Amino acid sequence: MSSAYIPLDEDFRVSVIGRRLGGVKRILPVMSSKGGVGKTLVSVSLALALSDLGRKVGLLDLDITNPSAHVALGMKLKDLPEEEKGVKPPEVGGVEFMTIAYYTKDNPTPLRGWEIDNAVREILAITIWGELDYLLIDTPPGMSDELLDVITFFKPAEPLVVATNSPLAIKSVERLLKLLKEELTVKGVVENMASGASSLVKDLCTAHSVSYLGAIGFDPQIDSKLGSLEGIKSSSFFRDVTRIARKL
Ligand SMILES: Nc1ncnc2c1ncn2[C@@H]1O[C@H](COP(=O)(O)OP(=O)(O)OP(=O)(O)O)[C@@H](O)[C@H]1O
Ligand SMILES: [Mg+2]
Repeated sequence: MSSAYIPLDEDFRVSVIGRRLGGVKRILPVMSSKGGVGKTLVSVSLALALSDLGRKVGLLDLDITNPSAHVALGMKLKDLPEEEKGVKPPEVGGVEFMTIAYYTKDNPTPLRGWEIDNAVREILAITIWGELDYLLIDTPPGMSDELLDVITFFKPAEPLVVATNSPLAIKSVERLLKLLKEELTVKGVVENMASGASSLVKDLCTAHSVSYLGAIGFDPQIDSKLGSLEGIKSSSFFRDVTRIARKL
């Protein structure tokens, strides 16, 4: 894989990416420029919840240097995707799941900007998704390569933005909303680790005319349940996420 920047109009993978996503009805990137607010847990749980509701679902971990959805799902990295002119994502809990971690394992993967962009194009070009009602995408924090690639390659996409009631998260998410609203139709904001004591997230939604999709309460047991699908599905976190999934 080249580490040099390839202009979009010279990259044969770009047209392949459009075809690969042809059978996907709706693309929901789970985003937040703020780190650690629960993007990975929300995307994994939403994928499982939508699958339980009878939808055909895919989940793509687009955190190239720090993938973690496989840890939450308890996915063994020896389960390599089937290869035949591309790769079919293995299924976990009824969800087609793709991650760069199948290839990098849990080794450090330090990459510079264009190398990340290149890895994103590669993974999008090789992945053969089935006919899906929803493709959920877990994204890294920040406002950099992967986020810009979501805007470039997933149109139309309907971002779900995750926020907490911390003023630090609100400022960060506010910047993200401004950017996303110029490019895509934001599906709405999910409040995570909600305590009910503050309305900062609701106020943010009102100020920026985006939907407030609901709250996920603080679940002190969620970390002890990660790695087990049954564990996740028995959590109060999952119960709250399922309520949000019904609104999508
Ligand atoms: N509702 C919740 N209740 C309790 N703890 C939570 C909740 N949501 C998230 N957490 C805690 O926050 C941690 C980080 O969650 P997660 O990895 O999903 O965040 P992230 O936004 O994906 O982080 P990153 O920005 O690094 O990708 C979890 O491991 C858990 O400890
Ligand atoms: Mg994450």
